[in-house]
Amino acid sequence: MARTHADVLIVGGGIIGLAVAWRTAQRGLAVTVLDPDPGHGAAQVAAGMLAPVTELQYGEEPLLRLGMASNARYADFAAELEQASGLPTGYRACGTLAVALDADDRAELRELYDFHQRLGLDSGWLTGRECRRLEPMLAPSVRGGLHVADDHQVDGRRVGAALVAACRRAGVTLVASAAARLTVADGRAVGALAEDGTEFTADQVVLAAGSRSHLLPGLPDGVLPPVRPVKGQVLRLRVPPVYAPFLSRNLRAVVRGRHIYLVPRADGELVIGATVEELGHDTTVTAGGVYELLRDAHELLPGITELPLVETGAGLRPGSPDNAPLLGPTALPGLVAATGHYRNGVLLTPVTGDLVAEYLATGRLPEPAVPFLPSRFTRDTLQEALR
Ligand code: GLY
Repeated sequence: MARTHADVLIVGGGIIGLAVAWRTAQRGLAVTVLDPDPGHGAAQVAAGMLAPVTELQYGEEPLLRLGMASNARYADFAAELEQASGLPTGYRACGTLAVALDADDRAELRELYDFHQRLGLDSGWLTGRECRRLEPMLAPSVRGGLHVADDHQVDGRRVGAALVAACRRAGVTLVASAAARLTVADGRAVGALAEDGTEFTADQVVLAAGSRSHLLPGLPDGVLPPVRPVKGQVLRLRVPPVYAPFLSRNLRAVVRGRHIYLVPRADGELVIGATVEELGHDTTVTAGGVYELLRDAHELLPGITELPLVETGAGLRPGSPDNAPLLGPTALPGLVAATGHYRNGVLLTPVTGDLVAEYLATGRLPEPAVPFLPSRFTRDTLQEALR
């Protein structure tokens, strides 16, 4: 049986695993990534909104801080990645407008705005007319909204392709095979067996397998809390030049209690997302999912029915029990987590790469990662979170 050794073995080559690999290789460590199709994880479907402020939920202030830290690094991360790979990332500093159509939705959005004010976040309240001045295609029924100038976007597909190229140029070994099982010896993670039968050993193993992280055979019970798949259906439309600019910034809305977002790329792609469904590993695109997204998008932007619909898809967000990522050493010596990013994988890619690479290179976990240690889920808190 073939056997190869690296300083760091990364199980999972989605954009999180690849960002960790790239940053770790830049620090001079020998890195191998195991993934049948590197760069093609959930980010292939994601809209790529970088929206820590407009996606803020009550009780998730630590996640907000991590998201804002990652957002603040994004422009530099994208520029460095483009330089290192020779490929574009689609980073666009466009801001986000969140709008409401009826009184209940407006009240919900207004609560979010008040929460922003209490936290000192930069967001501004607009009347319906002011919203339409920013985005003339909005329906006349828009009742008000909030504008967040610093919530931007990037193209997850382009980031995936650029990270693959940057990793190769930085000397990362990308192995096109899935991990069949984690190898544990003397109470320590020491590598993984690939599906093609090759055995990989490493001083440290990073688990970055997204919604499949928890299913890796050989992972001892209790080392990771459950990471569950949360399905999101997403549509891709195209804005023909004659309609451009159809939208100039990310648009979010609560439409009768349902959340929807539209992300207009500079190249004319318009991404509409996303459903939130707990259906295991199912990625079927359903008529109901497409209908709901188009119906709500049409209420916001009646002109949307003129645009070509070019793609439908579904991806699986890796959801942790508290919706925040799992970063850093686990209870199994030698095993480091970089997973569970749920709705924020694209946003948190730069900060995850930096923090986890720092830990791998120095053995010290940087302070911003400490609230996200997997050990926050002791038996008691895990049971509480799962109730
Ligand atoms: N962050 C958007 C989503 O998960 O749908």
